[in-house]
Amino acid sequence: MKPGVFITFEGIDGAGKSSHVQALAEAFKAQGRAVVVTREPGGTPLAEKLRTLALNEPMDPLAEALVMFAARRDHLVQVIEPALARGDVVLCDRFTDATFAYQGGGRGFDWAVLEQLEQVVQRTPAAALRQPDLTLLFEIDPKVAAQRLAGVRVPDKFESQPAEFFARVAAGYDRRAREQAGRFARLAGDQPRDAVWRDVLAAVKSKGWLA
Ligand code: TYD
Repeated sequence: MKPGVFITFEGIDGAGKSSHVQALAEAFKAQGRAVVVTREPGGTPLAEKLRTLALNEPMDPLAEALVMFAARRDHLVQVIEPALARGDVVLCDRFTDATFAYQGGGRGFDWAVLEQLEQVVQRTPAAALRQPDLTLLFEIDPKVAAQRLAGVRVPDKFESQPAEFFARVAAGYDRRAREQAGRFARLAGDQPRDAVWRDVLAAVKSKGWLA
């Protein structure tokens, strides 16, 4: 049995990551791998309820971080760890880096406290600290991302934040990507979709997970 693979997709709202999640799932399935496609906050019935709260109810930054991590704990235990134990490929639209970027960078919440929460929440019987094997970070100018999102849909609590918020979120992602450079692939999200997809495939192939 091949070992499981855990890949996460990150970037500010409007960076274009989500359209590549399904495409990468198909690429893995075409090579005979079992794939679990999931998202955060969410991925279980409880975590989806917490998602609705987190994306719609005003709350202070610590409460928001705790809701994100509560949803993550349930998702990790119920879905991600069992899938990795089976040897599946897990493709997750956002994970902990989003908490560092949005709650840490965007909201200015204490980075060190997030690191403590991460240590507690992501400790499982199988991993002292569960982290993605690869994180695809879709980078784009926050102004361009805002233009992409404008008028497309009713914005949630985060999407309706001003441009300065997203500049701080992008800075949070940048910090995380520099602190944990080994698992990050940084992709230029402002290219045409085909070019971004080529970069996604190259990043995954370089790990030897796709032929
Ligand atoms: P997103 O993943 O972009 O889904 P959709 O495309 O359906 O809007 O939305 C999730 C939102 O939640 C996004 O604005 C980022 C935010 N978020 C956090 O603030 N912290 C987190 O830890 C996570 C996982 C997401």
